[in-house]
Amino acid sequence: MSCDFIALATPGVQGLTPYVPGKPIEELERELGISNIIKLASNENPLGPSPKVLSALDQVKADLTRYPDGNGFQLKQTLAAGLGVSADTITLGNGSNDVLDLIARAYLSPGDEAVVSQYAFAVYPISTQACGGKSVVTAAKDWGHDLDAMAAAVTENTKVIFIANPNNPTGTSFGKGEWDAFIRRVPERVLVVLDEAYIEYVEEGADALNGLDYLDQHPNLIVTRTFSKAYGLAGLRVGYALSNPQVANVLNRVRQPFNVDSFALAAASAVLEDQDYLARSRAVNRDGMTQYETGLKKLGLDYIPSAGNFITVHFDTPGMEIYQKLLQEGVIVRPLANYGMANSLRISIGLPEENQRCLEALERVLGDD
Ligand SMILES: Cc1ncc(COP(=O)(O)O)c(C=O)c1O
Repeated sequence: MSCDFIALATPGVQGLTPYVPGKPIEELERELGISNIIKLASNENPLGPSPKVLSALDQVKADLTRYPDGNGFQLKQTLAAGLGVSADTITLGNGSNDVLDLIARAYLSPGDEAVVSQYAFAVYPISTQACGGKSVVTAAKDWGHDLDAMAAAVTENTKVIFIANPNNPTGTSFGKGEWDAFIRRVPERVLVVLDEAYIEYVEEGADALNGLDYLDQHPNLIVTRTFSKAYGLAGLRVGYALSNPQVANVLNRVRQPFNVDSFALAAASAVLEDQDYLARSRAVNRDGMTQYETGLKKLGLDYIPSAGNFITVHFDTPGMEIYQKLLQEGVIVRPLANYGMANSLRISIGLPEENQRCLEALERVLGDD
């Protein structure tokens, strides 16, 4: 090969490092030849899919030769009715990652800036850089977003601010008080992307923030959500953005015509009808979080209190070493060195028995040192 195809890529893409997902169970099975592996690495729902989803998928099978509804009419109607928004504010995505990428592609040109926090979700800088944009990273405050610093980082080149609430991988969250002050400070020409992938897990309370309440007042706000977490559909890939109709119109211009497939559309509509599933997801998560908090304290380990479906734990030694030892125990968690958190691991909340196994494996692994 005489041509360097990396050098042919756009400058932003040349410097990119691909997103590193959680290790799949099958991969570890192949590598170690062991079974009975548990994966607590990708903030997935441990319950398995809703029965309503399974029967909806059965009905879609007969129509697999047809393209999906490219406008996702039925899902948008169901979402709009449930959320009390109009359907023309919704942009559907192949997971909310897709929507985040649409935002970057539609709004970021080379030289434009996107403000992100230290320890923010890795997809924001990847999508930004792929478009030739520049990520401006503000220092985290207590592992979370420093909204004052983020507002202060806005320059005339800023087009987008990406914020996750709760944040992945730290699980930190902020409430209405901090948000109100922030959103008022940001000029309307700057789009604020409020990523609420984990909002269903946030405990209700007077200060609990729901981005939807701000859409009418702030036309520069885009709220993104997903069916991958509390709704248990990570494998089907469906998420969405809520924004003013003009922004939705722009996002739909760069969206692939059939970016959400027929299974995903039907499953998402079906799970929205299953309030019991959502309630179980929350309850299992709440109990699992308590199980980890208690277990980690017993092990003398420091962790970041989390509002999501995962918990980030700090160690005295490199997280990668502990991660490797946990793999030998058949437990897959997530190392965070690529987030600049070399001594931390992120553990997704599983079923009670999975959490127990993870805590016991941690105890053994730490006892080896
Ligand atoms: C903060 C945050 N946003 C967005 C996503 C993307 O999720 P999906 O593309 O599955 O909707 C994730 C996934 O882990 C996440 O943690």
